[in-house]
Amino acid sequence: MLNLTSNELREKWKSFWQSKGHVNLPEASLIADKESTALFNVAWMQQLIPYLAGKEHPLWHRLFNIQKCVRTVDIDEVWDSFHLTFFDMMWNWSLGEYFKAEAIQWSYEFLVNELWFDPKKLAVTVFEGNADAPRDEVAAAAWQKAWIPADRISFLPEKHNWWSPGPVWPCGPDTEIFYWVGSSEFPPEGSNVKDDEDNWMEIWNNVFMEFYRDEKGHFSKLSQHNVDTGMWFERMCKVLQWKDSIYETDLFAPFISLLEKTTGLTYKWNERKFRIVADHLRTAFMLINDGLTPSNVGAGYVLRMIVRRCYYNLILLKKLNSEELSSFVDAAFVSFKWLREFDEDRIKKTLINEISQFEKTIAKGKWILEDLLKNANGKLAWDQIFMLYDTYGFPLEITKEIAAEKGVELDLEWYKKALEKAKEKSRQSTKVMFQKTADWSKYLEGIPATEFVWYWSLDFQDAKLLKEIDTEEGQKILIFDKTPFYPEMWWQNWDSWNVVLDDWREYTILDVQKTAGVILHFVK
Ligand code: ALA
Repeated sequence: MLNLTSNELREKWKSFWQSKGHVNLPEASLIADKESTALFNVAWMQQLIPYLAGKEHPLWHRLFNIQKCVRTVDIDEVWDSFHLTFFDMMWNWSLGEYFKAEAIQWSYEFLVNELWFDPKKLAVTVFEGNADAPRDEVAAAAWQKAWIPADRISFLPEKHNWWSPGPVWPCGPDTEIFYWVGSSEFPPEGSNVKDDEDNWMEIWNNVFMEFYRDEKGHFSKLSQHNVDTGMWFERMCKVLQWKDSIYETDLFAPFISLLEKTTGLTYKWNERKFRIVADHLRTAFMLINDGLTPSNVGAGYVLRMIVRRCYYNLILLKKLNSEELSSFVDAAFVSFKWLREFDEDRIKKTLINEISQFEKTIAKGKWILEDLLKNANGKLAWDQIFMLYDTYGFPLEITKEIAAEKGVELDLEWYKKALEKAKEKSRQSTKVMFQKTADWSKYLEGIPATEFVWYWSLDFQDAKLLKEIDTEEGQKILIFDKTPFYPEMWWQNWDSWNVVLDDWREYTILDVQKTAGVILHFVK
């Protein structure tokens, strides 16, 4: 296999697709435009939807580019060797032109002929079929023709091998390409993704967009077949630079050394925190650079969470005074300078401002926690831990740290159960990017937009119930003038809790959706 720098890989991608007659699309902003139900640009194909359905693209029907993306669905995995919240993806598309055979042949050619991947270290998955679409024997045959042996091809269900930008959009089966990351040099005979998932890392997805699902869930064929592929840039750098994780590649190494220098600590002994700081700071740089500011709603809320999580992981490594923090941010610009051109002034001001607000939250939480610890009798109850996190926005990691200093144990078992439900929800939506598009407008006449309030502001305690709806489908929906519940949006985690009304009726919130500015609470 070749040993390539990240820049060399970019060049390879460009020249390969140009040699196959593809035209380079310009890069889009990370912030999704206002009409979109998305918060961020999570895949370039968002912009291609009309062209997948048959409209002629002004540039060409063979396209490629490298596009920055933000997806927060894997945020809990950011500490392992290859998950990130900000990443680059390398894309190529056929709009109504070549299809499975060519796309698979070229994927193989790029990996094996261009980058000299050892085919013995590759495995693929294909769609196993369901009531709507057949088992993808065509893709499997194309892989075998390209020399991937049958025992490295796994047929997997819709959950894994079906890709759609949302419930009501073009969609289709996909085939995913994996690279061996197990501890032996080569995978054992017969190892494949289905039986040995943890030892294979996904590097590339080829989606065959040929279907359309409408509002009623009806399925039809698009007027044309399309290919939409995305290759994980940072993961490819990890492989091509022979590194154990993406944080050791040329993309992150200068920042990791900076962090070692700043904290006086060794990366190897503090991998988790180092990786979270590195990933989240990079994401914050990129989002602020594209014009976003931290806030209590939508994309700004996600940015706020990312900055805060970055910061508390940093101060768990080392508490920096304001001068040290300022020079750390300056040096971080230098270590990430390859990424994009930064508006350093704006980014720095925004970050420092957000951090000083967060400092106040931390101070308040600490004060409450210390009081709780005095009466904890050696063990802090789960609902108190949850309350600190949920009501005061006090990070669990800091609770752990302070409790440990005082020799108090945390009852984390129930705490984890309380979080589990919300997480399960977010896992299920991994492959679904668009918000549900059901039409609730008939219920909403005269209802003003809901104000979103921050958990720890406690403002929501006097929220007024504006409307109670019992739908024909048997759902109950509550609408308030303000709410701390975050609507289910693309790739974002979802909060779950109970509400108690003025008449003491208590409901569990099952789902939160936003439509025309109004936040709908689906309750039981
Ligand atoms: N749109 C496909 C993905 O993001 C290629 O995985």
